[in-house]
Amino acid sequence: MDLLQAASEAYEKAYAPYSRFKVGAAIRTPSGNVYQGVNVENVAYPEGTCAEAGAIAAMALGGETEIAEVAVIADATAPVPPCGGCRQKLAEFGKGDVKVAMYTLSGEKLVMTLAELLPGKFTADHMKG
Ligand code: THU
Repeated sequence: MDLLQAASEAYEKAYAPYSRFKVGAAIRTPSGNVYQGVNVENVAYPEGTCAEAGAIAAMALGGETEIAEVAVIADATAPVPPCGGCRQKLAEFGKGDVKVAMYTLSGEKLVMTLAELLPGKFTADHMKG
């Protein structure tokens, strides 16, 4: 399945009545499976969740824990990068060279690796005494 298509299909289902900013995400795992996610907002605004987090949850439910590739799409003037929290969430399951392709509805595209998005990331090694 084409990852942009998967993210675009998800985008349509985003629940974003407060920001009116829909986001769709799709993750491909090394097995080739694709997992989709959307942002799901809440009237208590901080309780909303990002599209990337939804796709990660779907991947975990599918029994997989390794990200090979990510696509994110939003209706914006420029490709929308994952928020700080989502960078850390994606880095939990993807190596530094994993590509995150960010798209606008009008077809603009920006590709960055997880290492570029989250330099100096916090890892389990930092907790060693
Ligand atoms: N959002 C995402 O879902 N992913 C991103 O990468 C950036 C922001 C959502 C969160 C919120 O529902 C809306 O976009 C506006 O911030």
